[in-house]
Amino acid sequence: MSKHDLKIVAEKLRTAASVAVLTGAGISAESGLATFRDPDGLWQQFRPEELANVNAFLSNPSLVQLWYQSRRRASVEAEPNPGHLALVQLQQRWNSFTLITQNVDGLHKRAGSTNVIELHGNILRNYCIDCRREATLSLDASEISRCLVCGGLIRPDVVWFGEQLPPAAISRAYDAASSADAFLSIGTSAVVFPAADLPIAAKRNGSFVVEINTEETAISSMVDVSLRGQAGAVLPALLRTLDEVTV
Ligand code: OAD
Repeated sequence: MSKHDLKIVAEKLRTAASVAVLTGAGISAESGLATFRDPDGLWQQFRPEELANVNAFLSNPSLVQLWYQSRRRASVEAEPNPGHLALVQLQQRWNSFTLITQNVDGLHKRAGSTNVIELHGNILRNYCIDCRREATLSLDASEISRCLVCGGLIRPDVVWFGEQLPPAAISRAYDAASSADAFLSIGTSAVVFPAADLPIAAKRNGSFVVEINTEETAISSMVDVSLRGQAGAVLPALLRTLDEVTV
């Protein structure tokens, strides 16, 4: 990340009336939560087809529930990092600021962000696959969890492969992306659709699109500026630069 690029982004942000942000697992990496596709990512150690789809759950509910229990505990034990906190401060500078996340760890809301769209659900919520009632799961539950009302299996309220995103969430996300003057894509490999289409939709509608990532990604060639580095360092640096250009 160069000072020059930070300044270009800060100048664009300064004149933007509306801002939308898309985050992925990379923003929570500095809180100690594994990403999916990095060399030490979850999909290098586990097979999505055995854990993150409804057929896997129906054929081995206990394995899937245990895996989500361990991720749920990790999410609860993790703390928001300087990247999450910088987004809370950024939000305070715009009336129109939408934070769209693919993350299910709840860290943006715990950091204090509001107007958060959780595209892939939230790992802390659970529901019964039969009666659809929300269910509370103890973090230590190790037996197969069943609904106290109807006995159905309890699953995490996250979007699995092959499932639709919550329609209201994706519709709000598209509205925010396509009307944003500036769009930040942070810590996502941008390969999972429809989330990965949001920066493209923003660009198509004339938004200034910035990527913040440690590595090159699928959208690097189409963004206006790539700020390379850890989100927990780049976002606070962007805040400081924004202060410099607004004085
Ligand atoms: P990925 O694991 O695909 O990508 C994480 C991105 O974060 C990579 O591009 C890394 O280079 C980058 N990264 C890692 N550490 C970083 C840091 N400290 N600062 C900035 N960038 C960093 O995760 P997602 O793009 O979020 O879906 O994955 C999208 C979806 O795929 C997930 O929501 C999940 C998964 O399958 C479902 O479970 C439905």
